[in-house]
Amino acid sequence: ETNRKPGRHPHAPLKIAHRGAAGHCPENTMSAFKKAVELGVDFIEIDVQLSRDGRLVVIHDTTLERTTDGSGNVRDHDFCDLRKLDAGSWFHSDFKDEKIPAFEELLEQILPHAGILIELKHPSLYPGIEKRLAFEIVKHNLHLEKDPRLMVQSFDIAAVKRFQSLIPSLPAGVLIKHHPMGISNKKLNELSSFAQFVNLKQTMMTLKLKKKIHAHGMKAFTWTVNNQKKIQRFELMKLDGVTTDYPDLFRKKRR
Ligand code: G3P
Ligand code: CA
Repeated sequence: ETNRKPGRHPHAPLKIAHRGAAGHCPENTMSAFKKAVELGVDFIEIDVQLSRDGRLVVIHDTTLERTTDGSGNVRDHDFCDLRKLDAGSWFHSDFKDEKIPAFEELLEQILPHAGILIELKHPSLYPGIEKRLAFEIVKHNLHLEKDPRLMVQSFDIAAVKRFQSLIPSLPAGVLIKHHPMGISNKKLNELSSFAQFVNLKQTMMTLKLKKKIHAHGMKAFTWTVNNQKKIQRFELMKLDGVTTDYPDLFRKKRR
């Protein structure tokens, strides 16, 4: 049973935990995902990349230095070597036993409790990553669900298109950080031909733009909102999803 359904207010945006509950625990670790589940989120946002030997691993940066005791590029290490790294001490010594998670672990341990919003991180560095992800999803029969518990997003439009054509049954979306000229109807038309949602940096999101996105048949999400007043503003705006490092800031469920 996921947290998403019974008792959810019909207009409440999906509560999405950024890299797990990254404000409370080291990002993209099992502790962060478990904390997010404990805080009652609907979805957990994760970043996926490939190890040298082609395993899907959950880590944000393309290099290891910031969040592990390793060094160099993620893609230059085999999975078994990535697994030896400490992915928690950089945050706090209490988390010294955290490892870089394998994507599959999350399907087994987290998906029964919350949906997963998968970001394909720098997919141009990982040719074939969409196929690899699709293979894993199909292996677990997750493409057949009527109410999908997985969604896929990327800043890389071509990668979103490729994934969407492999598994059209899962919601796929485009991340946008900035768009100097605003997002035109032409752009939204183009996106709506393959995307089910648009996920904008919070500084770009306005009520007007949300309405335009909806008018093009897509859902409107925003990231990464760590201020309670701003979260409430987006809740009132009736966005479809809000991403935060601090899921405890969301309004409690109405029952
Ligand atoms: O879900 C949106 C957000 O995760 C995109 O930015 O850098 O945190 O992956 P980043
Ligand atoms: Ca991300």
